[in-house]
Amino acid sequence: MTENTIEELCHLYTDLSDSDIQIIVKIAVTLPLHAELTNKCMFIDCMVKSSKQAIVVAEAFHRTQEAVYIKSVVGEFVYETFEPGVHYSHSTGKKSFGHRAITQEGKIVEQSVVPIRNDNHEVIATLIMEEELATTFNKSNERNDISFGSKALGNLMAETIDDYPIVTDLLMEIFLVTDADQRLVYANPAGVRFINEMSQAVSIQNEKILTLLPFLADILDNQEEVYVSELTVLSKNIEVKKVKMHSKTNELKGILMIIQDLTELRTKERELMMKSVVIKEIHHRVKNNLQTVASLLRLQMRKIYPSENRIHFEETLNRIFSISSVYELILANETVNEDDVDLIELTRKISSSMILNGLYTNVGLVIETNGNKVITSSRKAVSISLIVNELVQNSLKHAFPEEVSGTIYIEFFSHKKFAELHIRDNGVGMSGTSYSLGLEIVHNLVVNDLEGEFMYKTVQNGTLATIKFPLSQEVMIHHEKTDSNC
Ligand SMILES: Nc1ncnc2c1ncn2[C@@H]1O[C@H](COP(=O)(O)OP(=O)(O)OP(=O)(O)O)[C@@H](O)[C@H]1O
Ligand SMILES: [Mg+2]
Repeated sequence: MTENTIEELCHLYTDLSDSDIQIIVKIAVTLPLHAELTNKCMFIDCMVKSSKQAIVVAEAFHRTQEAVYIKSVVGEFVYETFEPGVHYSHSTGKKSFGHRAITQEGKIVEQSVVPIRNDNHEVIATLIMEEELATTFNKSNERNDISFGSKALGNLMAETIDDYPIVTDLLMEIFLVTDADQRLVYANPAGVRFINEMSQAVSIQNEKILTLLPFLADILDNQEEVYVSELTVLSKNIEVKKVKMHSKTNELKGILMIIQDLTELRTKERELMMKSVVIKEIHHRVKNNLQTVASLLRLQMRKIYPSENRIHFEETLNRIFSISSVYELILANETVNEDDVDLIELTRKISSSMILNGLYTNVGLVIETNGNKVITSSRKAVSISLIVNELVQNSLKHAFPEEVSGTIYIEFFSHKKFAELHIRDNGVGMSGTSYSLGLEIVHNLVVNDLEGEFMYKTVQNGTLATIKFPLSQEVMIHHEKTDSNC
């Protein structure tokens, strides 16, 4: 394994940036140490662009034991069905321990997987520590084969096959087993039904599998020990998993194929996709309708005299703009869950446009994320957009009279169980404690919608609003930093 290999593979197969690749290269250098220290095999996998597969970009084996991997697996693909832990960590960003997996050599191992993140907290790769299951079963190393229990199962099947259905008979998936000559030696009932549907052959037992199911040719030609592929045959979407079976002396004994009919699943996926298109269209309409209301108000505003009264219309316009910003962000959302809103982006959009539209050239804006990325549902985002709107509006309206210059600071903090948003200005501070409509709206939204706490007070230099609200399925923080004062 060289730096070049990692870089070449990442450039060829992934969407990772040069700086992401450098992070992986740095970690890869330490892999042999980890392997020696833990007596386990170490790997780094990256997701392949526009695909559900991962690819191995780095590896290190320990020297003290016979390695599970006979040959290098760098550059080999990793399928979700065989290594679920790797895919789980890639997609959720969480660690996973003790997941069973089948290696590219067809061996059973146990994997511990941790995500590797870049400076933006995005998962760019996974670090995998792997242990052969046979050694996990039996630390004394008396047996070094991993066919644990297979003999017992074989005896059991042979004895009971005539009287009772074996496990595979009960499964919906199609199980086919061939001998080394690719002749069909076993098919479960689902397999027999499938072959009858796909082939005109009168007898199927011991027939060449390619005579029965010629569309499997590419999969059988593939040299990989384990291989997964999706095909469309006679308007059916099927997924074929192939595993080569070997004897202890590594002689090819046959091939196991597990075939799953994904037609219904794919149809459902298409339906869901259609639904999400419809939801997007609804969001579009909500956004457009809000903008129409704002235009009507703006037209009406021009006719208001004296012009000081226009300020009330302006405030309402800002409130409408804040809500429509939520929908604009949802619509711009291509990659993540459609209902997710990036709260920091939303806050930045609302507060900066309020300063620009109101021509407050005397006021600066500082947003400090503290390394947090806060994602909320659109429902919570609408409430937070109104809260930010009212508080920033207050600072602009009350904190800097007679165009005194000043700054509004917006800061995000994360704690174990809740998020905290501070909106502070270095203005004149509040003279009284009475709430009018604006602060009443904020208080109600924080307490009722966010189920949180709201504090508004004059501080040494200006006014500070603190909003604390619990983390939940609808409010999530992705971060690496946690505040010490939690
Ligand atoms: N950042 C601030 N700096 C100084 N005074 C403030 C600040 N925020 C609020 N205040 C004071 O608190 C009062 C109440 O604020 P509140 O937002 O409830 O009402 P408002 O801004 O006057 O009107 P609206 O209902 O349109 O928001 C304000 O009138 C103002 O005197
Ligand atoms: Mg106000």
